[in-house]
Amino acid sequence: MTDQVFIFGKPVEGNTFTDREKESARLAADFAGGINSFIVSPRRWGKTSLVKKVIRETDNKKILCIFTDVFKAKTSGEFCEILGNAVLKQSATAIDEILENVRRFLGRIQLGVNLASDPTNAVKIQFGLNDAQPPIDDILNLPEKIAEKKNVRIVVCIDEFQQITEFADSLSFQKRLRTVWQHQQNVSYCLFGSKKHMMERLFDDEAKPFYKFGDIIYLKRIPFAYWEAYISGKFKAEGKSISSDQIERICQTVDYHSSYVQQLCWYIYLFSDNVVTNQDIDAGIEELIDQNTALFESRTENLTPVQMRFLRALADGVCDGFSSAAVISKYKLGSSAASIATKKALLEKGLIYMEESKCLLADPVMGLWLHR
Ligand SMILES: Nc1ncnc2c1ncn2[C@@H]1O[C@H](COP(=O)(O)OP(=O)(O)O)[C@@H](O)[C@H]1O
Ligand SMILES: [Mg+2]
Repeated sequence: MTDQVFIFGKPVEGNTFTDREKESARLAADFAGGINSFIVSPRRWGKTSLVKKVIRETDNKKILCIFTDVFKAKTSGEFCEILGNAVLKQSATAIDEILENVRRFLGRIQLGVNLASDPTNAVKIQFGLNDAQPPIDDILNLPEKIAEKKNVRIVVCIDEFQQITEFADSLSFQKRLRTVWQHQQNVSYCLFGSKKHMMERLFDDEAKPFYKFGDIIYLKRIPFAYWEAYISGKFKAEGKSISSDQIERICQTVDYHSSYVQQLCWYIYLFSDNVVTNQDIDAGIEELIDQNTALFESRTENLTPVQMRFLRALADGVCDGFSSAAVISKYKLGSSAASIATKKALLEKGLIYMEESKCLLADPVMGLWLHR
């Protein structure tokens, strides 16, 4: 296999993965110690890549890692279905073992059988249509039962966990999860998801079921030194050269957003000859904005004019003082109460986020687009 150059839009591994050394070590320690964890960062900074890497590198025979993504779950029932299927399949080596576990631990559940595909995909648990009360607790206890039976500890990793804040019964379901999970002796959970403020909403005050549930890892930006080594190494391997200053410009343009760093590098790689020029970088940035224009248009089409003006302020680099007279009058944000309400609405939509009491655009390329 030839080395891949730059990768974006899907989890990375091997030679397209850089840094995350401290976070990997800490998460591996949480896994080994049976500590629950939360991983929080804006979208596409590298949560999924990090968790998958730590799972791959967990070579302790007594620890079984299960990975699942609940992005598609719209209800607590669907959440349990996805979770249950992942636990059943990833804890078994043969279809008989899956069936055994279903019989033993989930007696009431219907099985959908699909003989055409490979053994581990041949069985799918589904709640029966007339099963008004799905056996949620049985499913939630499945990892504990299987861990006991196999004499292992299980780490259940749940990607896009913020989905549960969308369920109609969100709060009571959160309480139920917490109650069941905290009694499990042999299972720990690694919960992560893409909307920072939503993740925080799950555990940031005492009233929340997940308050103090576990170790919280705030993913940071990958530092310049790692990007420099990574990017110059990739260009070099392809017979091209790029300067340190140019790499710094790339990182700063996209505010060190992991996915955009790789995407921008890809365009620059495509556009450049043997020596990367500043024009190549300009063209790469234009391409990056073009590629995202349709997305930004649709994300902003329902915004009010004042919300758009608030975003423009952020694009201009304003990051605090939104109730000050100067900012309000320059960007026509109305009153200070109105300005606070606008900020709240944009936070709610996930278009902006707070970082150390600074208000930032969730998407740095959206800032470039707003400028254009
Ligand atoms: N450790 C890393 N090294 C290099 N690039 C990374 C790394 N983590 C993430 N990326 C970049 O970010 C993109 C999104 O990564 P992903 O793990 O899917 O993020 P998240 O789960 O936070 O949304 C990847 O396709 C890659 O371009
Ligand atoms: Mg992800």
